[in-house]
Amino acid sequence: MPVEKRVDPEDGAAYSFEELAAYYKGKYKKAAINAYWETCAPVKKAKGKGKGSAPEPKAKAKTKAKAKAKSEPKAKAKAKVKAKAKAKKTSPPKAFKVCVCGGAGGIGQPLSMLMAMDPNVGELSVFDLSVAMVPPEGVAADLGHLEKKSEVKGYVMEVGKKPIDHCEAALTGCDLVLIPAGMPRKPGQTRDDLFKVNADIAKGLVEACAKFCPQAIVALIVNPVNSIVPAMAELYKKKGLDPLKIVGATTLDCVRANKFVSQMTGKSAKFVNVPVVGGHAGVTILPLFSQVSAMKGVDADKIPDLDKKVQDAGTEVVNAKNGKGSATLSMAYAGARLGSSILAGLSGRRRVECAYVASTIEEGFPYFTSKVVFGEKGVTKVLGIGELNEYEKGRMAEVKAQLKTEIETGLKYAEANSLAD
Ligand code: NAD
Ligand code: LMR
Repeated sequence: MPVEKRVDPEDGAAYSFEELAAYYKGKYKKAAINAYWETCAPVKKAKGKGKGSAPEPKAKAKTKAKAKAKSEPKAKAKAKVKAKAKAKKTSPPKAFKVCVCGGAGGIGQPLSMLMAMDPNVGELSVFDLSVAMVPPEGVAADLGHLEKKSEVKGYVMEVGKKPIDHCEAALTGCDLVLIPAGMPRKPGQTRDDLFKVNADIAKGLVEACAKFCPQAIVALIVNPVNSIVPAMAELYKKKGLDPLKIVGATTLDCVRANKFVSQMTGKSAKFVNVPVVGGHAGVTILPLFSQVSAMKGVDADKIPDLDKKVQDAGTEVVNAKNGKGSATLSMAYAGARLGSSILAGLSGRRRVECAYVASTIEEGFPYFTSKVVFGEKGVTKVLGIGELNEYEKGRMAEVKAQLKTEIETGLKYAEANSLAD
């Protein structure tokens, strides 16, 4: 009897129960692992690697010697998997350098805190302007007292100065730069309304990254993500740098979709993993509920409202904050999830997150959000969006109509500008 394999929604790859259990042992209780197994969709053949199915296997219990192990006695293969999982657990965390630009802001402070707590962070730069609500050196002094290994340093720049002239110490040696620097929306504004002011802020910071840490992954949180990411990635390209170093943070859409599905179905959010594709604004946010096993059995007529709830979640927070900002705490949580996944990938433990990156998966769309495998060099593989149902196909047309013009805005900005040396 062939061993049954199921697709782990975390990375889309196929695993046996033994492999999954070995990987999650110590992280979750046995009952939770059993429940998780039940949420994984069965695969008929373990070798399927087509669009939307198994990506490159990540560094989990699944090994390159998978095929070989198949022919070995079961007990031996099991022991091997166990040994591998144990070896992984004991491999020491890395000591990456991370910078949060805008690190004294609404998102920046909690994001800096969460990154300072990441076991893979050895050094954290908190960079902000002299007009920030708290001096970044103060945020750094505060975070420097956490009982964590990271060393936290604060860096400040006067308003009107250029990051390229002031960020050498903060950025040199960075592996990851997280950028929540920029203006948030007020009620009645769209994310697109922020382009003019935020694109210049992002450009100044990306210019400094290109100079002082060109190998770093630059995760852009600043809005409008749909236009700023194409603009900055094209500027990197113009400078001969890798546009895939620029990553648009859309993780919050997945976090929200997971939460709302969990609320609707009563299933633990830990075991819900909704892929949200397209972009990060209004109708371009497309949650693919048809690919979520927890949604099996939910009436189709409930989907449009749930979809809209995810699309409008950012606006809900903007309105509730009543002119005093947009999502900060949930964004910090989501940004840290993305940041930690990127660092895990850099350390050799591949992770899958949805992100808005340079892409070829949808014809005519050089930038698109889909599942991305993060590995040793950052973006290792951009995964396809998989099967859509009829409702999602209709929504995809809306995504594309809006996203096209928002990408154009970014491309035009990149044509008209360039990064200084
Ligand atoms: P905020 O105003 O509280 O903080 C922004 C910080 O950036 C401030 O401290 C400011 O001094 C700093 N800053 C501005 N220009 C800078 C520069 N050149 N260098 C360094 N720091 C600079 O705003 P916030 O609530 O933290 O939001 C920040 C951005 O994140 C906004 O554009 C918002 O729309 C966006 N956002 C995106 C998502 C997402 O899902 N991608 C979610 C929430 C918010
Ligand atoms: C969000 O989705 O919360 C962010 O993009 C902020 C905003 O303006 O809605």
